[in-house]
Amino acid sequence: MNVPEGDIAKAGGCPFSGAFPADANSLTDAKVIAEPQKFYKAMRDNDPVYFDEKLGMYLVSRYEDVVEVLKDPITYSDKMGYDHMYGGPYREEFMQILERDGGGFFYDAIKDDPPAHTRVRRLLDKAFTAHRVATLEPGIRKVVIDLIDEMLDAGEGGEVVDGVTKFSVPVTIRIICEQLGIEHFNAEKIHRWSAAVTAQISGMQNRDSMLENARQICELQNFIIAEMKARENEPREDMISDLVHARLEDGSTLTFKEAVSLIRANIIAGNDTTATALSNLQFLLATRPDILKKLQESVDDERQMNRFVEELLRFAPPVQGLAKMTIKEVELGGKKLPAGAHLLVMYASGNDDETVFECPRDFDMQRPNIAKQVAFGTGVHRCIGAALARMEIKVAARELIRRIGKIELAVPANEVQYLPTVAVHGIKELPLRLERRAV
Ligand code: HEM
Repeated sequence: MNVPEGDIAKAGGCPFSGAFPADANSLTDAKVIAEPQKFYKAMRDNDPVYFDEKLGMYLVSRYEDVVEVLKDPITYSDKMGYDHMYGGPYREEFMQILERDGGGFFYDAIKDDPPAHTRVRRLLDKAFTAHRVATLEPGIRKVVIDLIDEMLDAGEGGEVVDGVTKFSVPVTIRIICEQLGIEHFNAEKIHRWSAAVTAQISGMQNRDSMLENARQICELQNFIIAEMKARENEPREDMISDLVHARLEDGSTLTFKEAVSLIRANIIAGNDTTATALSNLQFLLATRPDILKKLQESVDDERQMNRFVEELLRFAPPVQGLAKMTIKEVELGGKKLPAGAHLLVMYASGNDDETVFECPRDFDMQRPNIAKQVAFGTGVHRCIGAALARMEIKVAARELIRRIGKIELAVPANEVQYLPTVAVHGIKELPLRLERRAV
């Protein structure tokens, strides 16, 4: 894509600094991964449904087109989009390995299209009602406080600590395991499993990493199957038992394959995403003392904290893009697309669209239209775990602000590395220097 620097610099009256790298033309390019907003802006201005040749997908970049696709799950199939990305070019071999060593290849029931999707979605919605999520808050607060204390201990005397492995990842995994009822877990393993599943929609997997990821996913599936078996005759008060023994609204039960895939989705979908949000939170606190100060003043103000979480999700959306596929010829963003066009819906670019969010690179908790942000998607596939994720981020923000006196990056901000995937825009490692807040 040929992008004149001047166009980028305008960015809705709120200039970006620096020029868009002329030799980068794909979401998979390292320069784009490091600074994606300039690429988003270039697409929105010049070619809003840009065909990314390296990825083999059309990137849907404008807010209104993102919403149009998400609101029409019949024309834009989630199932086909996901299936065509899952496993990448090694899908056949990947499926054979899972069939052989991982108990089977289990299609993701939650990524189906309506009406099949509606059947399982209603079941999962019940597990994530606002009421159920509220009951989890005390447990979440305890996990968060324990891990902040551990992180502060590790950082005593100026030691550098990694905010990703010391906080974001363990917080997320402990909470997911508590919710699902997984008592004995190895957080590192769950993190590896999660990365292996996410890699299937990364658009950046080579054969060697596919083989390693397939091995990890086999381990994950065998673990899930064992957890299910343990609850077949002796149900417990947990989500795995609920799914194993579920009765759906039409009176049917879940098939074994559906149940495995839904438990897997619940372990994975909220993992890298929430961990990324918690890393983005720490990054922001470490790099924006002005925001930290504002938050210290409003830490007990529920409304302000809710607005903060929403603006954080708008400003730094963990999910960059997910796949859909056209089931018929259609026009989108002024471009004619054939049936079978593989799209990547760019939630992150939608949230950065200056025609909807004025001065999108400003962090502004008072935006009047903050609720329009699409970090959780919209429409029938909107995130099931949104209420849980919002609460985790709010509790983490509040407790970090209360307990931390000083938080600084231990490396220059432009040296922070991101995960190699087009699906999640996530921080790989976050070296921090921390000090306890004086009481
Ligand atoms: C900050 C954290 C999170 C973010 C940014 C996020 C984002 C998303 C997005 C963008 C989608 C896709 C919507 C679409 O297809 O348009 C999604 C779907 C989903 N999310 Fe999340 N998510 C987060 C946390 C969670 C958590 C904590 C869970 C559960 C424990 C979860 C479970 C799911 C599931 C099961 C789906 C599939 C829903 C469907 O297709 O019907 N997510 N999420």
